[in-house]
Amino acid sequence: MKILMVCLGNICRSPLAEGIMKKKVEENNLDWEVDSAGTGYWHIGEKPDERSIAVAKNYGIDIRDQRARQLRPPDLQNYDLIFAMDSNNYRNIKTFAQSPDEEAKIELIMNLIKPGYNQNVPDPYYNSDGFEEVYHMLDMACDKVIEVYGQAKE
Ligand code: 4NP
Repeated sequence: MKILMVCLGNICRSPLAEGIMKKKVEENNLDWEVDSAGTGYWHIGEKPDERSIAVAKNYGIDIRDQRARQLRPPDLQNYDLIFAMDSNNYRNIKTFAQSPDEEAKIELIMNLIKPGYNQNVPDPYYNSDGFEEVYHMLDMACDKVIEVYGQAKE
């Protein structure tokens, strides 16, 4: 299984999602690949936001080696599951899809927890208090990814 976490800048939410998901993949002995990307280009090459690094560290996850990259069309072929953090990201990722098969790989990540609610993971960039909440939302969602897709042990 190849999973891609996508937000806007690839410095706050999706790097956390990548770090949390990778930890759970390891804990569950799954041979999965996990990466993250942003729909925007502004932060390409940057480390995750210090506030994301700090909240991850509090939970024993080191995300300092990640570097931001922008989503590219081949990602929709190369990954099996593409999780959008919010509905804007979701819409933007969809514009890259070149087939119904590629479209079907894209899901709003919190719909794993509340199907059909289309809940966003709030953008914490301008709200430093938001990082803890983002962490907990993503932690729940990543548990669900393991629960739903972890049976095959791919
Ligand atoms: P992210 O947060 O999409 O969770 O990485 C943001 C990071 C940067 C910006 C917006 C959101 N920005 O406007 O630069």
